[in-house]
Amino acid sequence: MSDYQAQYKQKKMTADEVAAQVGDNWLIGMDAAIAQTPAIIDALCRRAENSGLKGVRVQMLLDSFPYPFYADGHLFGKVMGESWFASGGARKALAEGWADYIPNYYRDCPRHIRENYDYDAFCVSVSPMDKHGYFSLGSVSSYSPAMIDKAKRIFVEVNENTPRAVRGEQLHISQITGLVENTFELPTLPPAKLDETSSIIGNLIAEQIPDGACIQLGIGAIPDAVGLALQSKHDLGIHTEMFTSSMVDLIKCGAVNNSRKQIHRGITVTTFAFGSKAINDFIDDNPSIAIMPVDYVNNPEVICRNDNMISINAALEVDLFGQVCAESIGTKIMSGSGGQVDYVRGACQSRGGKSFIAFTSTAKGGTISKIKTSLTPGAVVTTSKNDVDYIVTEYGLAHLRGETLSSRVKQLIAIAHPDFRDELTFDAKKRGILI
Ligand code: COA
Repeated sequence: MSDYQAQYKQKKMTADEVAAQVGDNWLIGMDAAIAQTPAIIDALCRRAENSGLKGVRVQMLLDSFPYPFYADGHLFGKVMGESWFASGGARKALAEGWADYIPNYYRDCPRHIRENYDYDAFCVSVSPMDKHGYFSLGSVSSYSPAMIDKAKRIFVEVNENTPRAVRGEQLHISQITGLVENTFELPTLPPAKLDETSSIIGNLIAEQIPDGACIQLGIGAIPDAVGLALQSKHDLGIHTEMFTSSMVDLIKCGAVNNSRKQIHRGITVTTFAFGSKAINDFIDDNPSIAIMPVDYVNNPEVICRNDNMISINAALEVDLFGQVCAESIGTKIMSGSGGQVDYVRGACQSRGGKSFIAFTSTAKGGTISKIKTSLTPGAVVTTSKNDVDYIVTEYGLAHLRGETLSSRVKQLIAIAHPDFRDELTFDAKKRGILI
């Protein structure tokens, strides 16, 4: 038996044995999506339910398992979630006051972690150990390196289905405090429903993307529709925060080959991947994809080094100045900023680059216009009027960057749903912003 295997055997334990080590007021860190460790967190919650354990905080981003402390308030004060993104279960728990949230630009998370937090434990899912004693952190890099640096203990769940990313983060058995074997089917995101409206928007944006461009696609139906519409392009590259299922399709059909990138030529660059099982199969043992820390991947000064950088993201509402809210409906928090601003800025600084914020013109069965004279009171501004570039709905494109206020107002009204154009025009004239 090698020394590594001996260490493996010695460090192997059950999730309950990990949970038994947790003390009052511990701060536990986890990264995004499939990097999370459901068995350890479930064991921790069971223990908290049956003991006086209190004040434990669990930080994560994009919760991808049904955590008991997000589902209802019965663990409040015992184990609480702190989200870096405020989506999924965290969104509901925030609305109820059972959880907390750290506002951020995603690229800054590693710095916040290094400057503001000390972790009693970092927990992460990994692929099985290789012959050199290394575990791959699979499809997530994100802020894991920063949490590893700031953690007193590291606990891993070894899952045979976690892909081995050959150009991704690794942990060595010597760094690990304890490991739990837990093989299960990794969670996936249901495919977005591509309706006629998202296809129209996808095609409008695809017309603006030249062969050889480098793309970032956000989450949701419209970025997926753009992905589909890009399948007829050539020599595209990918430099993206989240690697999505539609990107696997673009690589497989030959539209993406990364051959015209200025940096990381030939390589797809991302900070985490989440979506279908096909994504994990694609990443496993694949040297053509690099999964790198978010403070590098989402840095606008890195993003802009590829020419013709194109970013495509979604929003909830936009006002006539072009202020984009992608995070709340009034005071109700719907998500974090993620990398939206990082990519808007990076794309706009790139030679030939463009950034698109796209959404259907109305919500709630056509009763609410997403283009508004003013944002709903309490709405959070994600992308500012000074950063915004293109806004797109099914009625066309508005190019706002560098344009006068009056031109912005006219263009935005022209792509609002026809039922709301008169009201928007009346309000804009009343405010003196349409001349
Ligand atoms: N007023 C009221 N309700 C609205 C609304 C508005 N202006 N806009 C959307 N909604 C409702 C929708 O009807 C929907 O309700 P439902 O769940 O009851 O159907 C819900 O809000 C979500 O809207 P939807 O258009 O489906 O948004 P989405 O789930 O595709 O997510 C964002 C949109 C903006 C929250 C998402 O893109 C996001 O997380 N952005 C964060 C920042 C970012 O862009 N990161 C990019 C890197 S990945």
